[in-house]
Amino acid sequence: MARGCKRVAELPVVETIAGTRAAVAAARSAGRIVALVPTMGALHAGHAELVRVARRQAGPTGFVVVSIFVNPTQFGPGEDYSRYPRDLDGDRRVCADAGADLIFHPSPAEMYPGVPAAFVDVTGLGDHLCGRSRPGHFRGVCTVVLKLLNIVQPDVSVFGAKDAQQARVLRKMVADLNAPGRVEIAPTVRDADGLALSSRNAFLTAEERAVAPRLYAALLAARDRARGGETDVSWLEGGLAADLAAIPGARVDYAQVVDDETMQPVTRLVGPALCAVAVFLGRTRLIDNLTLP
Ligand code: PAJ
Repeated sequence: MARGCKRVAELPVVETIAGTRAAVAAARSAGRIVALVPTMGALHAGHAELVRVARRQAGPTGFVVVSIFVNPTQFGPGEDYSRYPRDLDGDRRVCADAGADLIFHPSPAEMYPGVPAAFVDVTGLGDHLCGRSRPGHFRGVCTVVLKLLNIVQPDVSVFGAKDAQQARVLRKMVADLNAPGRVEIAPTVRDADGLALSSRNAFLTAEERAVAPRLYAALLAARDRARGGETDVSWLEGGLAADLAAIPGARVDYAQVVDDETMQPVTRLVGPALCAVAVFLGRTRLIDNLTLP
């Protein structure tokens, strides 16, 4: 077994907040650095990479917590909360192989024992892209992540660049509210054909899976145009939207270039920008992004 790997049976799954706090407190009093990787489970190699980044950040003696919680408050009405994939046995194997020390796997009642009245809103950064398409989504994400940070009190938490806007929003929340720990962003992990790994890829039919890599291909083409000197964003977005619309069965939710820091639309490429897309293939909504130029 590689360093950090452990057997599944050695990896505790803790369902209570009190139990998790006690385990973290014990690790901390032993001088261990604490890292947190928040997830919704159905873990894949992208999540495993976050766990490995967390392990590197916390060091060989660190204590790496992976939370697995399909957070109901970040799903809108009619979204896929009830059919979101759940696979705790598979998740335990991924976490054990990647070197996690504890899985925090609370129930909805443990996380939301009553009707919540306090929420976290990060204004501005969520105005466009997923924030616009999924009203209330980032409020749900921020609120649950702040709860997780308060429960675990990590020295570092790790998120993926695959959800670029989420990462920006959470980084701002942590900075503005002095939430515990620093935020690390890990690069997007892709299949060999370029498709960004996602728990939702499991929903794709064989036909949809076959065309799904064309999201990334469209992003690469947009980046090539930008690298070729194109700075007119409406032209870049037009080409991107056309490439995406040509994918059989695709319905484009958004295809947009925004400022890499503010997540606000730009008209010319002058500084770092994020080129982000969301596309429905059948009932499955896929997102991906690349930084420009
Ligand atoms: P989930 O979709 O399970 O993703 C958990 C973390 O894994 C996120 O930080 C996400 O950006 C990262 N991730 C997903 N796919 C990735 C890939 N292919 N490469 C690299 N990182 C990847 O995002 C959420 O859950 C939730 O919104 C959460 C933050 C847990 C709050 O409920």
